[in-house]
Amino acid sequence: MRQLIAGNWKMNGLLADSLELASAVVKGAAALPCDVLVCPPATVLRAVAGKVAGTAVAVGGQDCHAKEKGAHTGDISAAMLKDAGASAVILGHSERRTDHGESSPEVRAKVVAAVACGLLPIVCVGETEAERLAGRQEDVVRAQVWDSLPDGFAGVIAYEPVWAIGTGRTPTEADVAAMHACIRAVLLERLGEGGRRLRILYGGSVKPANARTLLALPEVGGALVGGASLAAADFLAIAAAAAD
Ligand code: 13P
Repeated sequence: MRQLIAGNWKMNGLLADSLELASAVVKGAAALPCDVLVCPPATVLRAVAGKVAGTAVAVGGQDCHAKEKGAHTGDISAAMLKDAGASAVILGHSERRTDHGESSPEVRAKVVAAVACGLLPIVCVGETEAERLAGRQEDVVRAQVWDSLPDGFAGVIAYEPVWAIGTGRTPTEADVAAMHACIRAVLLERLGEGGRRLRILYGGSVKPANARTLLALPEVGGALVGGASLAAADFLAIAAAAAD
């Protein structure tokens, strides 16, 4: 399966910057050996989706509510994301789990809502530094994968060690490979054969300088890129490093 390079713009970008960034990504995206997704803030998602329509670049949201609609001030439903032009949504990012106290069962409910609207869910998991130092990283991630996925899950997993996000630090190649193998084993156990071909992205300080090495590791099905996705040249360089 082609690798997926996804840019998580997080809470960055007013309309003009976002359209400029999207245009620059589109310009470089045509000949890339991978699928490309950008996940802008909800306020500019429709405009970005309009800008990339008909190109190789897809658009995703960064979160959605588990409910279809109702009295949930400030929240956004999966149907709203779809209506605005999204084809995917990031769910259970560690910043959501930390800032908003999202539990894995809540993430699972969001996955169900996203799938019901035809969105590709990208479910994030990853251990904290304390958990890794205690040697608990595989137990933590295994539980997150197990509890965040509904039966029959057919989306994407993103392994993002919390301590590697925005820090410039990454796990060793052996540690990434070991965790991706662990996640694959959990997917097979949880989903049966359906878990064999799901893409497992790596995320956390992916840069042009380390992308080729990370993307060549076994069971790495792409990258979820934060900071480096805000500069089109860096994001495109990472995408160009994808293994085809
Ligand atoms: P950075 O690439 O900035 O470390 O962020 C990773 C991330 O959280 C992507 O979702």
